[in-house]
Amino acid sequence: MNQYVKTEKYDKNFVAKNLMGPNSMIILEELLENIPLKKGMRVLDLGCGNALTSIFLAKECDVQVFAVDLWVSATDNDKRLQQMKVDDLVIPIHADAHELPFADEYFDAVISVDAYHYFGNNDKYFDKYLRPLLKKDAFVAFAFPGMKYEVHNNIPNEMKELWDSEALEMWHSIGWWKEKFAGKLKDFEIKEMQCFDKAWSDWLSTDNPYAIGDREMMATDNGRYMNIISLTGKVI
Ligand SMILES: C[S@@+](CC[C@H](N)C(=O)[O-])C[C@H]1O[C@@H](n2cnc3c(N)ncnc32)[C@H](O)[C@@H]1O
Repeated sequence: MNQYVKTEKYDKNFVAKNLMGPNSMIILEELLENIPLKKGMRVLDLGCGNALTSIFLAKECDVQVFAVDLWVSATDNDKRLQQMKVDDLVIPIHADAHELPFADEYFDAVISVDAYHYFGNNDKYFDKYLRPLLKKDAFVAFAFPGMKYEVHNNIPNEMKELWDSEALEMWHSIGWWKEKFAGKLKDFEIKEMQCFDKAWSDWLSTDNPYAIGDREMMATDNGRYMNIISLTGKVI
């Protein structure tokens, strides 16, 4: 996918101001290519950050969105939702992904962009905390930063000073994630996303201090180690 025509419609300043990493709107646009969300579905946007993805889901898919985040307050997200006129479709919630305040089998879909690796990078998160809230056949669509291969035991010299050790613990390869989800989803697909260069360049060109801090890392990586991984399927 070369053109992110849906994302292009949004005000560039609004998007840039609310990015918290590689452009989450274009990541979501690519992630949803094979996820046929339908009007009225109830969707969990897990780790929504500043709710850019929730806005996109409401506007482009006409679904009801529960926008859950830990670091960003529900009040701040509600202001953005009102500004973008989607506050009737998106409900902002401040919650930890380990204490989600929802009924069992509530959601038709869960999406998570650049967040699942913070809490889902282990053997128990999906089954214990998330799976119970999803209907049978619910869509699961995650995108998160990863690695082209497991670098942890042999960190390239030039990256040693640039990769934060806490972040590195969360960045894994497709093979590593595949094992975590073995047998958990039908129509399971995991792959490298094509939006990597564009999503990162949109983020690095903002004046967010974290983006400025990421510039040297991405220049040195130069496409060799890091990627963005998409993981999709349906609940069995
Ligand atoms: C890098 S930001 C990405 C935000 C947004 N999805 C985006 O792509 O712009 C990671 C997000 O994960 C959320 N997060 C991390 N741990 C979490 C947890 N335990 N429960 C809920 N959200 C969490 C943070 O609050 C943060 O907003």
